Amino acid sequence: MATKSALTQQLGVVAGFDDPRVDLEQYRTPPELAAHLVHTADLQGDIEGRTVVDLGCGTGMLALAAALRGPETVVGLDIDPAPLSTARENERRVATSSSVAWVRGDATAAPLCPSGPTTVIMNPPFGAQTGNEHADRAFLSTTADIADVSYSIHNADSVDFVESFAADEGGEVTHAFAAEFELPRAFDHHDSDREEIDVEVFRIEW
Ligand SMILES: C[S@@+](CC[C@H](N)C(=O)[O-])C[C@H]1O[C@@H](n2cnc3c(N)ncnc32)[C@H](O)[C@@H]1O
Repeated sequence: MATKSALTQQLGVVAGFDDPRVDLEQYRTPPELAAHLVHTADLQGDIEGRTVVDLGCGTGMLALAAALRGPETVVGLDIDPAPLSTARENERRVATSSSVAWVRGDATAAPLCPSGPTTVIMNPPFGAQTGNEHADRAFLSTTADIADVSYSIHNADSVDFVESFAADEGGEVTHAFAAEFELPRAFDHHDSDREEIDVEVFRIEW
């Protein structure tokens, strides 16, 4: 298995959103965090030989990280077609060994029915924007339907919510790690151009 730092380097060429939509909370996961999440999942046996679905894939950061680690299939799904075309260009740049199926669809309406062992990886909208409240809840609900294991990025204060949501769906949070995430100002309602926010990544067995 390649190292986490090699994966971070490979993901360094993944372009972000050309014209990000605040209502969809469009910002790119930093390569370091994407590499950490996928490397951890790979060490747990949750990538290789499995179907990996990236819900709200944006320009493809997490899906492409998984595609570099020997999955059976990778699907990247987003509601907005604009980042999906950037994701296709990113796939050529990264030159993954497995190809990714880029799909336009609503992650909250369960448009997929993968067969076999399935891992969801996602950085869903946190539901911070008006009209988009509880977006992460809807993404988790789809995840509970299609995956037997998932890795998702949430606000640091989401631990109680994520644990009780998983328990209600018969799942269990098995691992969690904290990280810092740089958010563009438009998404965080702060005064400086960029803000560091604390996030937490959860592994859930469903
Ligand atoms: C925080 S961004 C993460 C992007 C990408 N996964 C990454 O890690 O760089 C959230 C993504 O969810 C997408 N999104 C928001 N609502 C959605 C929905 N209902 N269905 C599918 N995608 C959605 C946005 O377009 C955006 O690309």
